[in-house]
Amino acid sequence: MTTFAIDFDSLLKTIENALVSLTESNAALQEVCKQLYENVPYYNWVGFYFVDPYNPRELVLGPFVGEPTEHVRIPFRSGICGQAAAQKKIFIVPDVSKETNYLSCSPEVQSEIVIPIFKEGDILGELDIDSHQTNPFSKKDETFLKDVCELISKWI
Ligand code: SME
Repeated sequence: MTTFAIDFDSLLKTIENALVSLTESNAALQEVCKQLYENVPYYNWVGFYFVDPYNPRELVLGPFVGEPTEHVRIPFRSGICGQAAAQKKIFIVPDVSKETNYLSCSPEVQSEIVIPIFKEGDILGELDIDSHQTNPFSKKDETFLKDVCELISKWI
């Protein structure tokens, strides 16, 4: 596993500034994806899924940066994203080849982290990150991305 010196504190500040200065939420979320994608070399696909208000057992793809994905709608419980939504918890999959309930977007993807976004206890959506490295996500990534999702929850 390669280790990178990433200044998560300053990246969190950049993201907070982007959220404060952008009023149109899709543009703000697109900017968050861009910041994450461009500043963390092992974040190789970064995107949001949101719970469909018309079908609250399904996720719909929101802003993302990376290769287009065929998974624009994901039922709860399906794949890593659907499991994270159904169980309302963070999923970290260090090696996707070992995960049976997984929806592949690209053969390059080796690992994935999904962080739910809550508003007043309800799940609103999630932040999904794929990596081309095996086992790249540390406790620092988890804490940082949880902080990012908490910021987003305040601005949504
Ligand atoms: N791999 C995800 C599907 C979404 S893509 O990663 C963009 C999953 O198993 O739910």
